[in-house]
Amino acid sequence: MNAQTGRFVGNGAKSAAIHVKDGKFATESSPGTTKSLDLGGKSFVYPALINTHDHLRGNYLPRIGPKPGEFYLTWLPWDDDLKASAAYAERANLTAEDMYTLSSYKSLFSGVTTVVDHFPHSINQDFLPHLPIRALQNYALAHEASSYDLKWGDGIAIEHRRAAANNWPFITHLAEGFDEESMRGLANLENLGALDRYGLFVHCIGFSDEDIRKTARAGASISWCPASNMLMFNVTCKIRKFLREGVNVTLGTDSTHSGSANLLAEIHYGRELYRKLYGEDLPAKTIFEMVTINAAKALHLEDSLGSLDEGKLADMLVLRGQSDDPYENLAAAGMGDIEFLSLAGKPLYGELRFLDLFGGNQPGGKLPLGYSQITAAGRPMFVLGDPGKFYAQAREKIGFKKILDFLPFEPGQ
Ligand SMILES: [Fe+2]
Repeated sequence: MNAQTGRFVGNGAKSAAIHVKDGKFATESSPGTTKSLDLGGKSFVYPALINTHDHLRGNYLPRIGPKPGEFYLTWLPWDDDLKASAAYAERANLTAEDMYTLSSYKSLFSGVTTVVDHFPHSINQDFLPHLPIRALQNYALAHEASSYDLKWGDGIAIEHRRAAANNWPFITHLAEGFDEESMRGLANLENLGALDRYGLFVHCIGFSDEDIRKTARAGASISWCPASNMLMFNVTCKIRKFLREGVNVTLGTDSTHSGSANLLAEIHYGRELYRKLYGEDLPAKTIFEMVTINAAKALHLEDSLGSLDEGKLADMLVLRGQSDDPYENLAAAGMGDIEFLSLAGKPLYGELRFLDLFGGNQPGGKLPLGYSQITAAGRPMFVLGDPGKFYAQAREKIGFKKILDFLPFEPGQ
């Protein structure tokens, strides 16, 4: 595949064309065998986005939060409120497999090809290999580092050793609250010898300045989930301090039961919040890095993901160009701006004008096997799988015409 006359972001913006060979970005095309993605000089090409924190069983709506005017002290009462909610009961009409399929389309329709499903392997291993997008499978984890956490995995020390032995991330919620234990989250990891460059810590809202410096010195990463934090706690981590100390910061949505509808919405929210908190802009380039190369580093996948460089997997996101600044263009983008998305060179989603990218002729404009057509933001689009049929079936199971904001189409249209 060749992408031509686009504007390329994330590889130094040097190229006038980008080539894909055997699922990876390449320097030259293979004559005679390649198809071209003609971008007409107006679109921007980015590495596809990476969401470093989600719970794929939990992407349902509405959001569940504290009573008006109140906020939580820890994540525990949120979990209780979620499980007692009408939305949770409604969600139970869908199977676990349904929830994984639904959540994979939350990613796909927002330009995300790699997502972290923060659950133990025993819960997700049957589902992750079959999704249209890439859900990280090589990771070690804990739920949190408090006495009342959910005891996921084999314990912090063992899980961390597993991460280090395999060059995987060790992923855990940390300091998601303000009780004494939450505030000691990082110290607990340190005492267990689990504070180093394998760490990917989610939330970190109770981190002290010294915790932030320790995180930076250790070379660990964080997943910033601003929308979820503000809903539950009315505060987020000291994000500007994390950035100034040089911590590798990534962005996560959390599930839609507490966070934004998808990663594009989380980008908008994060920038708005930053402006509100500090009276200055979070640079669009910084947030671009959070959802691409920083995230790839945090997952220990920087050799294969996170930029358009030669040899990396061809996970490519093409967005309509609405701004001259490519980073501002991404930071302002919504679901209706996606023109094309690929995973390791395989088209996942896109405008019908790119159909000739598929190998062989597609007689009569028919879609290739395994793809279906939907209308998103007024545009006919091809998509891998059949999310229209899935959405209709899910509504039947739920019992009414449920609207899920992260699906940008109506079934049957
Ligand atoms: Fe979470």
